[in-house]
Amino acid sequence: MSVGEQAQRQASSKTAAEVRVRVPAKVNAQLAVGAARPDGFHDLANVFLAVGLYDEITVTPAAELRVTCSGPDAGQVPLDATNLAARAAIALAERHGIDPHVHIHIAKDIPVAGGMAGGSADGAGALLACDTLWSLGSSRDELLAICAELGSDVPFSLIGGAALGTGRGEQLTPLDVGGDFHWVFAVAEGGLSTPTVFREFDRLTEGTDVPAPAADPALLDALRTGDVTALAGALANDLQPAALSLRPSLADTLAAGTAAGALAALVSGSGPTTAFLTEDTDTAARVARALLASGTCRTARVAASPAQGATVVRRDA
Ligand code: C5P
Repeated sequence: MSVGEQAQRQASSKTAAEVRVRVPAKVNAQLAVGAARPDGFHDLANVFLAVGLYDEITVTPAAELRVTCSGPDAGQVPLDATNLAARAAIALAERHGIDPHVHIHIAKDIPVAGGMAGGSADGAGALLACDTLWSLGSSRDELLAICAELGSDVPFSLIGGAALGTGRGEQLTPLDVGGDFHWVFAVAEGGLSTPTVFREFDRLTEGTDVPAPAADPALLDALRTGDVTALAGALANDLQPAALSLRPSLADTLAAGTAAGALAALVSGSGPTTAFLTEDTDTAARVARALLASGTCRTARVAASPAQGATVVRRDA
């Protein structure tokens, strides 16, 4: 028996045999962006809303760290150590002086294109799954600290619901939401690199006085009261001009969704996914059909918000 197998056998005597975690996608109801900081990041006022499209992360003990992925977009997901799920397992194992010997399977339903935090969701999901598999009992604050090291959007994927993210987006204040909101997401062909979109933001705002980012009180009020019309009027994304500058065709997608009856349309995060807020589920279905028929996107998905953050849905001893 190899050393790895021995360690695995010892470990498996006190750990679960399989843990599955469900973790949601997100949309940014407001993304206010400040000037570039000396560390290259940008201060944000980022109003996150978790939406009901989910990846499921299943972890099982293994001889070595391994990542697999299934789902329609699985071919676009990196399976090496750059995958945030793998990085989450390594970061957690390092903190506890154990080996990250685990098989991580990602059942991917969150569109892989950018703007919905699918990679961040997998990081947060794998972290909670490994913490449960290895019976570490980390506090929420300990998990959130590791999430923040993994990426600016990862902490929100863990907590879900709705939250204001400040700093580079990782410092979260949970927000009250007074109702369900119905969204359509148009998934573009190909991705957009987040650093490239932030660099384009810097280029477009060069020489201007970029104000300090702040959450819009009218938007927070609309969320709290569940007022979809008010929310539609307040949605805002400072990265949208940069995303449109890099991918002008996204303007056609936004126009197609608005023409089909969406109350509001915007680029989700750094894009290229676009988000459409609708009155109800019937309108959402109609807007999704129209977006598909318009030929301006690869696929269209319907989802409601808010949604629960990373949640253990299965734990087999
Ligand atoms: O934190 P994360 O790894 O997701 O960030 C990816 C990239 O996006 C960063 O390297 C940076 O270029 C940009 N970014 C930023 N300001 C933020 C968040 C991300 O400039 N608040």
